[in-house]
Amino acid sequence: MRVAMIGTGYVGLVSGACFSEFGVHVACVDKDAGKIERLKRGEIPIYEPGLDDLVARNVAAGRLSFTMDLNEAMQGVDAVFIAVGTPTRRGDGHADLSYVFGAAEEIAANLDRYTVVVTKSTVPVGTGREVEAIIRRVRPDFAPGADFDVASNPEFLREGSAIGDFMRPDRVVIGATSDRAGEVMRRLYRPLYLIETPIVVTSLETAELTKYAANTFLAAKITFINEIADLCEKVGADVHDVARGIGLDGRIGRKFLHPGPGYGGSCFPKDTLALVRTAQQMGSPLRIIETVVDINDKRKKQMAERIIAACGGVVDGKTIGVLGVTFKPNTDDMRDSPAIDIIAALQAAGAHVRAFDPAGMAEAAKLLPGVEWTEDAYAALDGASCMAILTEWNEFRALDLKRVKTLLKRPVMIDLRNIYNPGDMAKAGFSYSSIGRPA
Ligand code: UGA
Repeated sequence: MRVAMIGTGYVGLVSGACFSEFGVHVACVDKDAGKIERLKRGEIPIYEPGLDDLVARNVAAGRLSFTMDLNEAMQGVDAVFIAVGTPTRRGDGHADLSYVFGAAEEIAANLDRYTVVVTKSTVPVGTGREVEAIIRRVRPDFAPGADFDVASNPEFLREGSAIGDFMRPDRVVIGATSDRAGEVMRRLYRPLYLIETPIVVTSLETAELTKYAANTFLAAKITFINEIADLCEKVGADVHDVARGIGLDGRIGRKFLHPGPGYGGSCFPKDTLALVRTAQQMGSPLRIIETVVDINDKRKKQMAERIIAACGGVVDGKTIGVLGVTFKPNTDDMRDSPAIDIIAALQAAGAHVRAFDPAGMAEAAKLLPGVEWTEDAYAALDGASCMAILTEWNEFRALDLKRVKTLLKRPVMIDLRNIYNPGDMAKAGFSYSSIGRPA
């Protein structure tokens, strides 16, 4: 089989490389000449464990290629995937679909045999139909269903474990407008039949909404446990035991019940907001998700207040050592990372922030002026009045606590990811605070 993948961002590049590993011939297309050149040289523009090897292997096998020429990429394809960005539109919170619609027009101009046009980007309900209408407008010569069909195939990849998520997914969701399109999509995912992956074939609209429902549900789950964690602190309970106690109920499930500084990243903040707007527009507001968005926004400021309180209530003129700034570990992605608002609030309170992150500092430096970036974790803590862990990178789980204690002015640690144990930290002589656990 043969496919073209438009967009070599996170989703497009991972999906393209993984399809080629399935034995499909994949041409990845992007308008960014620099990016295509780098990919051709074997340089991977994003940080994703395992992606460089996967790309190199499939390029060498002749199954994966990169080009700026959509016409060339679409020669002989069974399907073309739209995997371009859908950022939040400025001003109203809706998803900006100009890149998706632009791609649809270009696809239309290059269609020359029956092709399934698949949206992989996260797009509001109704976008697939709009893509179809655009193609029909550009190509009025096509009889309905004769030369193309549209489909929706949302991705459920997590940054940092995207390849595993693609190769061993919990399910694949396909929204198809015809049996013919559904069949092409099923064939593309055939290797997953061996591992008995459920394939959920639905209407176009259902597939589009399923993606948003999944992400907003997960965002709500995180927000729920964050609020329970706050209550735990008031009543002297331990949120991890509560999470285990409820999560063992199969109806609830154990995953995504880890409390923290609020969800961030390129997906949950954008998708929760976009679904809230769609629901309002449709006259069927999602009040739960509206509240989730509000709680998560306010949480970041509350986290900064927590750090300031642990530092004695005043941070003006003090140095705070920060470990981790990316929205989660194993990524260099800073998009909507809680650290951005937390650090900005600390700086606004007069603190000098000295920080280290294993992968995110280059990007973070653009977003957080005034932060002093260091070469390693210990340098960030040297002479600081207190330290705060904002991202749970593995290397922060095994700090030499004796050394940390000698570096800090006072042994104060605020652990917003609960990677240390309160009992152990007390024994090590730290004034330690975390989320939702008795001190
Ligand atoms: C998320 C979804 O998990 C993917 O299924 C989806 O495909 C993706 O969005 C997308 O729409 O493209 P991702 O943003 O990579 O993936 O990251 P997650 O691992 O889901 O984490 C999101 C945020 O929630 C992070 O800030 C993380 O720290 C936070 N989180 C996650 C918690 O605070 N607690 C948890 O228990 C889990």
